[in-house]
Amino acid sequence: MRRGLHYFPFPQMAQRVWNAWFIPDGKRPGQPYKRPLMFTKDGPREVQELCMVANFVEVYLAREGHGYPVGINYLEKVQLPHLPSMYGAMLAGVAYVLMGAGIPVKIPGVLDCLALHGRATYPLQVTGAQDGDDTTMTFEPREFMERDLAPLVRPRFLAIIASNTLALTMLKRANGKVDGFVIEGPTAGGHNAPPRGKQPLSESGEPVYGERDRVDLEKLRELGVPFWLAGGYGSPEKLREALAAGAAGIQVGTVFAFCTESGLTAEYKQTILEGVVAGEARVMTDPVASPTNFPFKVVRVAGSTSEADVYSARPRICDLGYLREAYRTGEGTIGYRCSAEPVTTYVAKGGKPETTAGRKCLCNGLMANIGHPQVRNGYVEHGLVTSGNDLNALAPFLPAGGCIYSAADVVNKLMS
Ligand SMILES: Cc1cc2nc3c(=O)[nH]c(=O)nc-3n(C[C@H](O)[C@H](O)[C@H](O)COP(=O)(O)O)c2cc1C
Repeated sequence: MRRGLHYFPFPQMAQRVWNAWFIPDGKRPGQPYKRPLMFTKDGPREVQELCMVANFVEVYLAREGHGYPVGINYLEKVQLPHLPSMYGAMLAGVAYVLMGAGIPVKIPGVLDCLALHGRATYPLQVTGAQDGDDTTMTFEPREFMERDLAPLVRPRFLAIIASNTLALTMLKRANGKVDGFVIEGPTAGGHNAPPRGKQPLSESGEPVYGERDRVDLEKLRELGVPFWLAGGYGSPEKLREALAAGAAGIQVGTVFAFCTESGLTAEYKQTILEGVVAGEARVMTDPVASPTNFPFKVVRVAGSTSEADVYSARPRICDLGYLREAYRTGEGTIGYRCSAEPVTTYVAKGGKPETTAGRKCLCNGLMANIGHPQVRNGYVEHGLVTSGNDLNALAPFLPAGGCIYSAADVVNKLMS
């Protein structure tokens, strides 16, 4: 991180982040993490700077030691940090921006503006917004730049989609070039598109996907735009199948999520991979866990909030707030709420009580997954691990008698 900060083009900003967040002797175990302010439509500047620097450092470090292109992925639904985040990633030379969990028609134009260090705007989705409300987020790089810079490379933009209709919508309505698509099926790790049409849940309480959710690859090919296939494509056989279907390649998540380079804690990796070896790893598509309202894949792990006892023992709190929804308040201003926050708070903000049922705090859960659980009054946050449906298909990537493999092992096997 320090190395990345060193190369950030605006040293005073890097210094401010350093001064605000670096703890020389490290955080003591049991000491709570200090939290940044939460994002709102117009800032605050401190968090915009933190996002620019953080995205720069992530991409800078990912690009070290090789000449391959590096992409960065954002969820459309997590809109508030978009503009400073993308600018920070672009300052570090990110080659691709990928975005799903929404319809990102306005992102291509944002990338065009930011490449020229120009003012970029993005419409914030505000529940209950009325005509005349100002819901536009604006980011002016020149208010942050400490010196002039040459124009940046405009990253290629890939929209992550799950239907032919969405591919067409993106090509017709986007305010700039869509360079390709990632076609993500419902078995993929992380968030999934909901099934099309109103279907009852399965006996196990999971969304049921059917024929209408299948993407017609023939029709997609006719659009003449490169596409990558995702969701259960993490094997040499599926890679060959994808290429034969005209795909430019595949996008893989699950197999990489448990390799040595992944930030998931060693304990979670080991427990889950032992389950894989025994053929007993279980993944559920939870229709309500994620406050985004998209189905979210959850690995069943004892001690994580996938389990009812751990979930119900967790005091509800919203203190990171990445998945908050913007809404119009009675006074006509913009408020922010999360369906996983304390029910009374959510309802006081006009949220419906039934929307809170079964919601899980992904923000704190995902931080705990990578070994940064927040600690409050003795309560330590638990993780919530995600993976694709075919977790047990990971077995061929494991060495005989062991559970440790690297990202390079995965790539070598896939390319075999
Ligand atoms: C741990 C994990 C986290 C993920 N997070 C995201 C995410 O933040 N945004 C996104 O668009 N996709 C995310 N995905 C989905 C992957 O980008 C990819 O499309 C998917 O994993 C491919 O299917 P597979 O899981 O069967 O390999 C995630 C997947 C995993 C396993």
